[in-house]
Order: sequence, then structure tokens, then C-alpha cells
Amino acid sequence: LDQLPGALLTTDHFRACLKPRARNSHKGSYGSLAIIGGAAGMTGAALLAGRAGLMLGAGRVFIGLLEPLAVDPLQAELMLRTPDDALAQATTVVVGPGLGASAAALEILRRTASADFPILLDADALNLLAAHPVLAANIARRTASTVMTPHPAEAARLMATTTEAVQADRVGTALQLAQRFKAHVALKGCGTVIAHPDGRWRINASGNPGLASGGSGDVLSGVIGALLAQGWPADTALCGAVHLHGAAADALVAAGTGPIGIAAGELIPIARTRLNRL
Ligand code: APR
Ligand code: MG
Repeated sequence: LDQLPGALLTTDHFRACLKPRARNSHKGSYGSLAIIGGAAGMTGAALLAGRAGLMLGAGRVFIGLLEPLAVDPLQAELMLRTPDDALAQATTVVVGPGLGASAAALEILRRTASADFPILLDADALNLLAAHPVLAANIARRTASTVMTPHPAEAARLMATTTEAVQADRVGTALQLAQRFKAHVALKGCGTVIAHPDGRWRINASGNPGLASGGSGDVLSGVIGALLAQGWPADTALCGAVHLHGAAADALVAAGTGPIGIAAGELIPIARTRLNRL
């Protein structure tokens, strides 16, 4: 399958990355994931990504919150920090969920972009890149892996075009973004297109319109972050997370608890089971 430039994404593309955990391993063996985002009114986005990061196996999860007063009453395992402190602890960063467009958001995005470990850019981090071409150009010069997860409107902002134009050529758009940013790109939506900087691409068939509710993209970011933190290469981490995230929604539909009314957080424990059973 890997010989083909384009292919349908299956579990065969990433199953080999799941290795049994060594008995004497410890939390340091599974990486420190920082989620940076969560400005006032959007703290839930960062917390959802953090919960997904935790339950998909990152060794430690820090949330670098732009809104200092936020708490997660449900998930005491998440370590709430300032954005700078979360970045300083991290071996992998997801930046963007609920980030906003403040000066502080732009500054922490700049610092994250120069990190020498894998980063994932989502949501408002992508919107900030679209508005700051010099910073965008720096992304392509990173030495560690970059992953980007735009929905069609975010992709359109990055490409300075319309959402309609993106949707009319989803594979071409994803490939162009991957080339321009030297990044592993998931162009989200029905039939998420994954494109790699070397020109390979895939289409994901899992998932359903039950995912069309606020927060499901934030959960996907956390799943990708967890796999990156555990040492999966960026291309397989992105493929694995996109597939598992959609498969979790499909399992909810099969169980009669979707597509109507799936709350994004419900995807997390199901994606976890799927990962453990790969
Ligand atoms: N079929 C399959 N998958 C779908 C479908 C569908 N019909 N609809 C949505 N999805 C999946 C997408 O592929 C993606 O993985 O659900 C997820 C939605 O992600 P986002 O569009 O990022 O939505 P979300 O993050 O929840 O939106 C909240 O974040 O990006 C910002 O501007 C966005 O303000 C919004 C906020
Ligand atoms: Mg989103």
C-alpha cells in the first residue's frame, strides 16, 4: 500500500506502530504532551484535547491555558500550567484548540514553531499562520515533524482561497499544503484527506456525520498528540489517529448512540479501546 501515491487508509497503515509496553517502562517512556490553547470562552477545546491525549496514552499531559482561571473538574490528571510552562515541559505540542488570536496567542505560537520536537497545528494556530506569512514561512524550515489538521475553512484561509475551491479539489489542496509547509496534513471533513510532504496521500473512510458537533476536531488533535508523544512517526500517528477517531464514531452509531447527539468527549474512551485492540 505504501508504494501507491494515493490509497484508502486502513489499519494496516499504522498497526505496526503499536508496540507492547515494556514491563519496566514508566511515564517518561510515553512522552510529555502539552496542549496550548484555551483562551477565555474556549477553554473546553484545550481540555478536550488534553483528555484525549491522556486516554490515548501520553505519559503526561500539560495544558498551557491562555485563560489562567480555568480548571478541569473531571480530569484531575491534567496538569494546568501557563502556556510557557507547558511548552517548557513538553516533548510534543498540540497548539491551537481554543487559542484565539491575541498577542499572547501569537507569541506562544512563535515559540512553539521553533521547538525541536513534533508539533501539531490546529484551529486558531492555523488561522494565525494564515494572517502571518513570515511565521508561516518559518514552519517549512522546521527540522522536527509538523502536523496540520485544517477543516475546509481553515485550509481556505491558509491557501487564500474559498472553502468551495478547497472542497472542489480536496486531494490537491491537502497535497499543496503538505508541500508548502513540509507538513503532514489532514484536510478534515467527510472523507478526510491525509497528505504527506513526499507526495503520498490517503483518504480515510471511517467516521460519519455524528462527528459534526463542536469539539470533535479538538479530540482528534489530542489523539494525534498522544501518538506523537509515544514516539509514533508523524505520518503514521496522523493516519492512526484519523482512522481511530472516525472508527470511534462508527462504533457509537453501531451501538445506537449516534449519529444524533454524539458529544465529542464520548469518542475518547472508545478510541482508546480501539487502540488497545489494534
Ligand atoms: N463525516 C466524517 N467526519 C466528519 C464529518 C462527516 N460528515 N463531519 C465532521 N467530521 C469530522 C472531521 O473530519 C473532523 O475530524 O469531525 C471533526 C471536526 O473537526 P473541526 O471541523 O475542527 O470541528 P471542531 O474543532 O469541533 O470545531 C470547533 O474549532 O477549528 C475550530 O473553527 C472551528 O470554532 C470551531 C472549533
Ligand atoms: Mg477544529
